[in-house]
Amino acid sequence: MSYSKKVLDHYENPRNVGSFPSTDKNVGTSIVGAPACGDVMKLQIKVNNNEVIEDACFKTYGCGSAIASSSLATEWIKGKSINEAEKIHNTDIVKELALPPVKIHCSVLAEDAIKKAILDYKKKNLYQKNKKC
Ligand code: FES
Ligand code: FES
Repeated sequence: MSYSKKVLDHYENPRNVGSFPSTDKNVGTSIVGAPACGDVMKLQIKVNNNEVIEDACFKTYGCGSAIASSSLATEWIKGKSINEAEKIHNTDIVKELALPPVKIHCSVLAEDAIKKAILDYKKKNLYQKNKKC
């Protein structure tokens, strides 16, 4: 199987590798895994008071397509509102990276990671807002 140029580019120069402190209330964190292959993806977002994703980062233990999908995902969600970011579909990633059918689940991992990081952020902040003291 050969990887597309875009996958190789992200694989060789992954964007936004790193991590934020997950205790920060503006940070949403997700860790998702693919049962089929055992790959794991961690994605984090930093959200400002206007619900815009200011920054994003990831760490992926997995195949080239999973690394490229998460790298691309962090690029795409930076600067988007959380509502916009939630609309990113794995098929957008498949198209951009020209992923072959056997690698579609790698892009699903990235979509799940975005959604779960947003959910984590929302849960944290709902809790904060409802707190009386
Ligand atoms: Fe080998 Fe995903 S199956 S890294
Ligand atoms: Fe499993 Fe890519 S995430 S092969």
